[in-house]
Amino acid sequence: MSIEVDPTILLKPEDSDYNSSGYDTSTASLTSSVNQYLFENGRQYHAYYGTDKYLQPTDETEQDRLDLHHEILRLAFGETTHEAPLKEPHHILDIGTGTGIWAIDMADQYPMAEVIGTDLSPIQPSWVPANCRFEVDDAMAVWTYQSDFFDLVHSRNISSGVTNWNHLISEMMRCTKPGGYVELGEADIDIYCDDGSMKSDNPLKVYIGHLRSALSAMQRTSPTTTFLENLLKEAGFEDIKTVQAKEPIGPWAKDPRMKKIGAMSLLHSETVYESYGMAAFTRVLGMGEEEARNICNGAVKATKNKNYHVYGVHYRVCGRKPVGKN
Ligand SMILES: C[S@@+](CC[C@H](N)C(=O)[O-])C[C@H]1O[C@@H](n2cnc3c(N)ncnc32)[C@H](O)[C@@H]1O
Repeated sequence: MSIEVDPTILLKPEDSDYNSSGYDTSTASLTSSVNQYLFENGRQYHAYYGTDKYLQPTDETEQDRLDLHHEILRLAFGETTHEAPLKEPHHILDIGTGTGIWAIDMADQYPMAEVIGTDLSPIQPSWVPANCRFEVDDAMAVWTYQSDFFDLVHSRNISSGVTNWNHLISEMMRCTKPGGYVELGEADIDIYCDDGSMKSDNPLKVYIGHLRSALSAMQRTSPTTTFLENLLKEAGFEDIKTVQAKEPIGPWAKDPRMKKIGAMSLLHSETVYESYGMAAFTRVLGMGEEEARNICNGAVKATKNKNYHVYGVHYRVCGRKPVGKN
């Protein structure tokens, strides 16, 4: 059976685009109560817990980006998935798991462990190792997991969805078993350059400036290593350790491993700036779609300029829950 055409769409046959029918196709927002997603500026966003919890898309483009970034980070951290010294873990929890790629990797690496990944959005695959599963949950609410249970509670790159770090760390502490570990992987919201090839008006710097403004307007802290270390210390974790890794953006580095990371990062930059920027700039800073897109596209273009030798910094901060603490 053919799909019937809405007759109001045809009222003005001289106009061929949808604008004459009251639809602005470039900025239209459409929510569905069934799928609980928001469609905006050509991308799909999470909406099940409301639209202000997390401002990055959840569609296939974003899922591909997350999987690519997982490989970049693995390589940047010397082919490792974590820093916490695990022996024979039985229970691992990944908060804000995204596509679940870290959790799946861990389940393969530690077949004796049950790995659970949680996220606001059910975007994880169904074909996963038998010892891996996923749940939809808001990390900013009280966790449903029992106390003193997990050998490792992990999160990576979830800071843009964290409104209360103390809550996150205190639930991590509660659910970790004594002697078990927590580990947080985050990145500096900045771009670095050691040889002066990036000036302050570089479009990447401009992009970062706007992103910082949006995050601070949303009261989302961009965490530094010191901030996270202090949070873990204050919560009572011990043996706190931080490891950093650089991600060159573009294949400008001489070192073959760094060059490979840079080449992968160049591909990643095609989508990462739009992912973090579009909703933040339009919804939070009130920019129009065109202005926001120009800033994101400017950043993409700058990463393709081989004269700019820029890199990002990622880190993992981990700590152990003392034996005897619960
Ligand atoms: C940038 S992605 C990172 C995904 C994954 N950790 C990785 O490194 O591949 C951030 C993820 O955190 C999730 N997230 C953000 N805020 C959250 C919250 N309050 N509770 C649960 N998940 C959250 C988002 O839905 C998204 O999937």
